[in-house]
Amino acid sequence: MCGIVGYIGNQDAYPILIKGLHRLEYRGYDSAGVALIDGDQLNIYKAKGKVSDLEESCTSKNIAGTIGIAHTRWATHGEPNHINAHPHYSQSADLALIHNGIIENYAVLKEGLKQKGYTFQSQTDTEVLVQLIEYVKTSNKTDISTAVQLALKQVVGAYAIAVVEKSNPDLIIAARKSSPLVVGIGENEYFIASDASPIIEYTNKVIYLEDEEIAIIRRQEPPKIVNLNNVPKTLQITQLEMSLSELEKGGYPHFMLKEIFEQTRTLRDCMRGRINIDNNHVALSGIIDNKDKFLNARRILILACGTSWHAGLIGEYLFEEFCRIPVEVEYSSEFRYRKPVIYPDDVVIAISQSGETADTLAAIELAKNAGAFVYGICNVVGSSIPRHTHSGSYTHVGPEIGVASTKAFTAQTLVLIMMALNIGKEKKTIPQKQFEKILLELDKIPDKIEMILEQNSKIEDLSKIFTYAHNFIYMGRGYSFPIALEGALKLKEISYIHAEGYPAAEMKHGPIALIDNEMPVVVIATNGHTYDKTISNIQEIKARKGRILAIVNKYDDKVKNMADYVIEIPDTEECLGPLLSIIPLQLLSYHIAVKKGRNVDMPRNLAKSVTVE
Ligand code: F6R
Repeated sequence: MCGIVGYIGNQDAYPILIKGLHRLEYRGYDSAGVALIDGDQLNIYKAKGKVSDLEESCTSKNIAGTIGIAHTRWATHGEPNHINAHPHYSQSADLALIHNGIIENYAVLKEGLKQKGYTFQSQTDTEVLVQLIEYVKTSNKTDISTAVQLALKQVVGAYAIAVVEKSNPDLIIAARKSSPLVVGIGENEYFIASDASPIIEYTNKVIYLEDEEIAIIRRQEPPKIVNLNNVPKTLQITQLEMSLSELEKGGYPHFMLKEIFEQTRTLRDCMRGRINIDNNHVALSGIIDNKDKFLNARRILILACGTSWHAGLIGEYLFEEFCRIPVEVEYSSEFRYRKPVIYPDDVVIAISQSGETADTLAAIELAKNAGAFVYGICNVVGSSIPRHTHSGSYTHVGPEIGVASTKAFTAQTLVLIMMALNIGKEKKTIPQKQFEKILLELDKIPDKIEMILEQNSKIEDLSKIFTYAHNFIYMGRGYSFPIALEGALKLKEISYIHAEGYPAAEMKHGPIALIDNEMPVVVIATNGHTYDKTISNIQEIKARKGRILAIVNKYDDKVKNMADYVIEIPDTEECLGPLLSIIPLQLLSYHIAVKKGRNVDMPRNLAKSVTVE
């Protein structure tokens, strides 16, 4: 989703802005642009396509200036083209503005401005905002920061913005509401960005803006943060822990492959300090600190989108089995617009890699307003969801850059496993022997993932067989059903092959009509209490000549004899199965997408951080 970078200091702004835009590419975008102030000129350059297209179009342009703002746009209002790309000038071309989010009342504002003689070049809501700021500034004869405050009071919707003024080359104004914005504090230089990745190589000191806050950033002066009523706020500087090397590809051809291979380490990092095998102990501080909430929960509501929602579905199986608490798993986007029944003794778990997903944030607010206790499972430290929930656990997997979520998914699942074990033990709803067995097995999971990763080239070979396919079906039962959904999502989002996941027994209620000798069916047929039932489901597919690729455990003999292709994974406790069975499916999707020449890390139409609903 759209990305913002800004710079003011003693260095040339352009290279810093361009590098920053490259760092934000992982969010997904379709055009890019930059605005620079050089003397009495405010220059804007834009290009449809990639940041490299923007760079190319700037080769013969004046890119001087020590202040500037830059943007990657992911189209919402108006098609992705040069005109709709940001920054946008105001009518007099004295202001330039970049914007993430959606101005919901832009049509009404635009009509009002048109009646006052303003004309518009683009179809965007962003251009309406910059014109509004200019109108407020001139009609109220006020300065730019007051004009931004007054204009934003008229705005309904979500925004993170940055504005520069030609006649004021020592000032950037930035503001946010429901869309993230970070200010980086360097030595006599300041940065702004939609997340910390463009800033980290210059400084680790940042300020996270809160909703309806405005940062007034002047050259050589500490930034001033005020709210829309001009009430100043004490600066709260946070120290970033992310390192630059964590953002690089580390020798892998794609971030996605690097992130798949990192999972042995990331799961260890996620368990560190939370599991002690010697003492048979699992403890998450967020659970311990809020023990009563979990022990007395009438129900657990899990809210998430996409891959995080699939992790939530695994959570449902876990909490019901080990904690005996009823669970509902909801798409945040549906939940927020229903009239959901929320009880004050509900525990709500919001799951999000980015911590910025607009629908999940809105669903959290709804739950909080109804008095529920809200617990976040997030990856990005300091992002909006951890700051808007009562408590939570980080997944601690480091930055996930590939748009398709991989290491964040396994860590979300692991956090849910640890939560279920922790609560189940406190509630005494999990037999001690079973608890100990699972714990011992959990410790072995990273090594078992390593064994699966060793089969990478075999899976790559297998992927060649399937590049012809236009459709795929994935099926599984019990804990493997969410993995069927997640396997299918991974394949469709990066290879653009249509894929659907089903609970295996549902096949005969409709989807089995799709089966013929061209249809690849991926079956997760690992050990567990529905293993024999899955075998019957495989027979139903075979009888209709479907081509089966089965994920089986070592030493399996039944499924191996029926399937066309198999990938073996180590055996484990049934509830831990998802941590292993998803790995070959991630690799399979990756290799099929590479063979088809897809842009694996930045698939078309997708964004890493979905900050609009
Ligand atoms: C798929 C994927 C998305 C995200 C979804 C939610 O690979 O990454 O489906 O899971 O957009 O994002 P977060 O987890 O950041 O809330």
